[in-house]
Amino acid sequence: MDTVFNSSLLLHGLVVIGGFTVLFYLFKFSWKCWCGFRAYVLSEYWQTDLRTYGQWAVVTGATSGIGRAYANELARRGLDIVLVSRSEEKLHAVAMEIERSYGRQTRVIQTDFTVGHAIYPAIAEKLDDLDIGILVNNVGMNYAGMLVYFMDIANPEQRITEVINCNILSVTQMTRLVLPRMVERGKGLIINISSEAASEPQPMLSLYSATKIFVTYFSRCLNSEYSPRGVTVQCVAPFVVSTNMTYNVAVSAFVKSAPDFAREALNTVGHSSFTSGCLSHALQVRTYANMHSSLGGSQWDSVFSLRN
Ligand SMILES: NC(=O)c1ccc[n+]([C@@H]2O[C@H](COP(=O)([O-])OP(=O)(O)OC[C@H]3O[C@@H](n4cnc5c(N)ncnc54)[C@H](OP(=O)(O)O)[C@@H]3O)[C@@H](O)[C@H]2O)c1
Repeated sequence: MDTVFNSSLLLHGLVVIGGFTVLFYLFKFSWKCWCGFRAYVLSEYWQTDLRTYGQWAVVTGATSGIGRAYANELARRGLDIVLVSRSEEKLHAVAMEIERSYGRQTRVIQTDFTVGHAIYPAIAEKLDDLDIGILVNNVGMNYAGMLVYFMDIANPEQRITEVINCNILSVTQMTRLVLPRMVERGKGLIINISSEAASEPQPMLSLYSATKIFVTYFSRCLNSEYSPRGVTVQCVAPFVVSTNMTYNVAVSAFVKSAPDFAREALNTVGHSSFTSGCLSHALQVRTYANMHSSLGGSQWDSVFSLRN
């Protein structure tokens, strides 16, 4: 009698635990779907007014690709733009394009981010009198035109320093320049362009993917530190966007054009602090993550010879 009673109690207990587990996963799944729907679909109609952050937006690496597209899109949405890049000629061309198309003010800062810490006092001086609401830390570079072993990087002594200066130091130093005033005013937006290449270790892209995971972690930590004080730090991690960096690969369902990417990514502001930037890339990330977990992390790693 006792045994029958105990087993039915156990059965009921298991049913209750199972029910709660199913409910928990259903809720989690629905929540994720809602967040994705809000960030990538609803955001098309439900956009944050970016002018509320301040009058000026600063964009690094602003003369081509994703940076140029962000600069144009921010101007279209009513901000004045500071363009920061290496080539004076390209800077003036993009500044002209923005002034003509959107009637916004522009300012250009010619600098080379590979140089290192010495460039920042001059940048600080040029930004000093501006009400900067948004910073887009976009500039970034790879260290070779193709996949290479770390030891095969050409001129490694110089190249390693250049990549770290451009991809990591620029993000931290530019943030240091604008963040104090944003915190003082209690509002601001910093957008850091990381990469999907940071989601997993990427052999043959070792230095690049390592610099990008730095950007991701730095952004997410800063967002936790400063969002309670009114400053949002958004990390954008794209898959493939057709730019010079990707040899202007053809645009497709998987590959975004830079203008489309920037427009969709800016729509996600206020909806997500860590985003792929657009629906197509978010779906690719999900598929990639599912493949990763169904293959098993360690098997996946060994496909790429990460572990012996
Ligand atoms: N394209 C993609 O598929 C993809 C995917 C994931 C992440 N990303 C990231 O997105 C960001 C932009 O990439 P992109 O594809 O748009 O690259 P891109 O087309 O090569 O453009 C790079 C921009 O940065 C400037 N720049 C390059 N080196 C510089 C330096 N040392 N100092 C100052 N400015 C410099 C370039 O202008 P000048 O030549 O005039 O200096 C250009 O305006 C990068 O951080 C990249 O890692 C790109």
